[in-house]
Amino acid sequence: MRTERIAVYPGSFDPVTRGHLDLIRRGARLYDRLVVAVLVNPEKEPFLPEAERVELISREVRGESRVEVRAFRGLVAHLAAEVGAGWLLRGVRSAADLEFELPMAHSNHLLAEPGVETVFLPARPELAFISSRLVREIARSAGDLRPFVTPGVAKALMARVRGKG
Ligand code: PNS
Repeated sequence: MRTERIAVYPGSFDPVTRGHLDLIRRGARLYDRLVVAVLVNPEKEPFLPEAERVELISREVRGESRVEVRAFRGLVAHLAAEVGAGWLLRGVRSAADLEFELPMAHSNHLLAEPGVETVFLPARPELAFISSRLVREIARSAGDLRPFVTPGVAKALMARVRGKG
């Protein structure tokens, strides 16, 4: 019998934004353990490497004892089984997000052990415009990243851009 309420919050987090961090903090209040799972997609070259994405999130959530951060390959459903999670957590910023999310939620329901549910949390309105894609675009052109990411993440992004340049 499951006693701990464990949820997985999967994503690319390339990079983690203020919106993601808000979701992690709210999610951590809903569960005993929240596993933030950073997708490693071997078919796509990320902006930030896997280890750096994990490290940046870990630094930001250091004070959150219920949160752990790890990388994963393959299917979220398999990860959920591995860590004993009963829930998958995803943030929704708009109707367009939900359109993308619903097929994934249904697929995960079929793929995961019975009982694994996807839970959607609405993004806070003041953060709902933020996306990692926009952040990468702004970083590439050395724009002001402060409204979108934390200072630590901004620093890492600018270092990466300079390194690539
Ligand atoms: O932050 P993102 O890019 O919107 O996150 C997408 C993510 C990582 C949640 C999604 O691509 C994913 O779950 N990928 C792993 C493969 C998988 O399990 N897909 C869902 C069922 S088909």
